[in-house]
Amino acid sequence: MSRLFESSDINDMKLANHFVRSATWEGMASPEGEVTQKLINTMTALARGGVGLIISGHTYIRQEGQASPWQLGVYKDALVPGLCKMTEAVHEAGCKIVMQLAHAGHFAPENLTGQPPVVASNYEGLSLKPRKELTAQDIQDMVAAFADAAIRARSAGFDGVQIHAAHGYLLSQFLSPIFNRRGDGYGGSIQNRARIHVEVVHAIRKAVGKDFPLLIKMNCQDFAENGLSLEDSLIAGELLADAGLDAIELSGGLLTGKKLSPSRIGINSAEKEAYFREELSAFKKKIRIPLILVGGIRSVEVAEQLVADGSTDYIAMSRPLIREPDLVSRWKSGDRRRAECKSDNLCFGPGLEGGGIYCVSLEHEKTK
Ligand SMILES: Cc1cc2nc3c(=O)[nH]c(=O)nc-3n(C[C@H](O)[C@H](O)[C@H](O)COP(=O)(O)O)c2cc1C
Ligand code: SF4
Repeated sequence: MSRLFESSDINDMKLANHFVRSATWEGMASPEGEVTQKLINTMTALARGGVGLIISGHTYIRQEGQASPWQLGVYKDALVPGLCKMTEAVHEAGCKIVMQLAHAGHFAPENLTGQPPVVASNYEGLSLKPRKELTAQDIQDMVAAFADAAIRARSAGFDGVQIHAAHGYLLSQFLSPIFNRRGDGYGGSIQNRARIHVEVVHAIRKAVGKDFPLLIKMNCQDFAENGLSLEDSLIAGELLADAGLDAIELSGGLLTGKKLSPSRIGINSAEKEAYFREELSAFKKKIRIPLILVGGIRSVEVAEQLVADGSTDYIAMSRPLIREPDLVSRWKSGDRRRAECKSDNLCFGPGLEGGGIYCVSLEHEKTK
């Protein structure tokens, strides 16, 4: 049996294997961000399907940080009892679950939040609509909000938290010179652009203790002109590892970036899989904490190779598990056919209409 299927630990969290369900917005929460039975059923199916760790969909830590409709929330204590039901169901199925803590910043639609988005920097050309640039005090309040959310996650039974600093949302905006044009201690050099992240790590650690698993998902690069470079991302990764992080999940691209979408669709050969593997290898040389690779992994052979040769410690997937929540069990049982996901991103559609995400391609195939 390959190392992929062996048990492992991240801090004090014991995992059954090296497979992670990468954070995936399901569009299944209530309009207020509460857990629903549909979301619990989806999580239970994933937990029974063999992944060692589920990372929740991005969960908004403050109301003004909501990115998408029917998104899960952790912005108030009243949400904790519902979240408890979800973690209990996952634990009963023998799996672990980490909450992804998120704030959408510039990409928090006013029609959802009722207020202008907050941003790292407000500058001409950012938007035709009003934006609120965070003051130094606002940043301190934001750091505290991440720590409060981590406390709620822990009381709701989550096994850890993951800070969302990828894909162009608020903490990704701070890292990116495109969005972050601040002249104070939170802008300019990468040490300054990563300052809020280091403060969030320290605040969460102080709030939940040294044993509670603390992860981050960050861009290895923005893949956009003047965006976060690999060189700067590596420096940020080292700073965060030194600050007490337990693992880094590597992703890349911005919601607005030109390369994000093309690189994520049509993954139909082993060569197109694991599309951040070059950046991963640069991280592996410098970063001493466990790395989780996400992005286009579709075959067990590719996954096994990446773990066996030490390129990554964990394999994370999102879309393949929307189509086949039991993919990991299937591979483990000896059915090693590649994931059936076509990487066409059609699953987003029903989520945006209120029905929750599902594999639309599979529906099409059934009706053919
Ligand atoms: C429907 C959908 C929702 C997603 N939601 C999130 C999210 O909440 N947080 C996040 O960090 N990434 C999110 N992603 C990105 C995935 O976690 C993952 O990084 C990306 O899809 C590439 O991995 P894959 O090829 O295994 O799908 C989402 C992707 C999809 C398809
Ligand atoms: S709709 Fe497409 S991208 Fe989404 S799970 Fe199905 S095959 Fe994969």
